Amino acid sequence: MKIGVLGTGEVGRRLAARLAGLGHDVMLGSRTADNPVAAEWAREHGGHHGAFAEAAAHGELVVNATGGLVALDVLTAAGTANLDGKVVMDVSNPLDFSQGFPPRLVVPEAGSVAEQLQQAFPRARVVKTLNTMNNTLMTDPARVSGPHNVFVCGDDEAAKTEVADLLKSFGWPEQQILDLGGLSAARSVEPVVLLWVTLSSVLHTADFNFAILR
Ligand SMILES: NC(=O)c1ccc[n+]([C@@H]2O[C@H](COP(=O)([O-])OP(=O)(O)OC[C@H]3O[C@@H](n4cnc5c(N)ncnc54)[C@H](OP(=O)(O)O)[C@@H]3O)[C@@H](O)[C@H]2O)c1
Repeated sequence: MKIGVLGTGEVGRRLAARLAGLGHDVMLGSRTADNPVAAEWAREHGGHHGAFAEAAAHGELVVNATGGLVALDVLTAAGTANLDGKVVMDVSNPLDFSQGFPPRLVVPEAGSVAEQLQQAFPRARVVKTLNTMNNTLMTDPARVSGPHNVFVCGDDEAAKTEVADLLKSFGWPEQQILDLGGLSAARSVEPVVLLWVTLSSVLHTADFNFAILR
């Protein structure tokens, strides 16, 4: 599948590398078409790189791996027409590090970044997932032993199925992919990042995850 990954940070590059490794045709998107980090990624992984709009146009599915506070600007730069009808897998968290550590959570008026993006781009099919864990675990869940969970939510069932299929290809067992329902569940799943940040400080590792037991 052709996939556009918006974001050249650690998360975007890791997801893009895993997707390219699985045989997808991946373009990494940036504010600038000639971003050297993206160019190096493309050389190393046999993918493409370009501006956000080029990456979104390339993708049949688009990943938002940019900061939650700039995600709306990024998707605006990507362009409405380049998102129309496409699954947008949103892994962002709206964290503000401007006042140091620990970061502050900024809640958009829409309730969550995912809903903010869905409202701004109603023809995109936004699915929130993977934001509750470190990026190393996103693409390699076996780093943590035992059953642990990845959450998905979104208003489009077919879009969620497409995202779940990608997660399975990353190594997530079907029974550990927990569907939280509609996109409004992103209101509860985005703030989880604050607990994650606290736990990582206490545990001195990023190799952990949440497991829902009943
Ligand atoms: N780190 C993790 O393990 C982890 C885990 C779960 C979720 N997340 C979330 O994943 C997302 C990506 O995190 P990250 O650390 O990989 O990357 P990041 O540093 O949050 O974002 C990098 C991307 O944001 C773009 N960007 C920065 N400022 C911008 C602005 N003012 N306007 C438009 N675009 C701007 C950059 O563009 P250029 O390419 O032009 O530089 C780059 O593509 C974040 O929302 C983060 O909270 C991270």
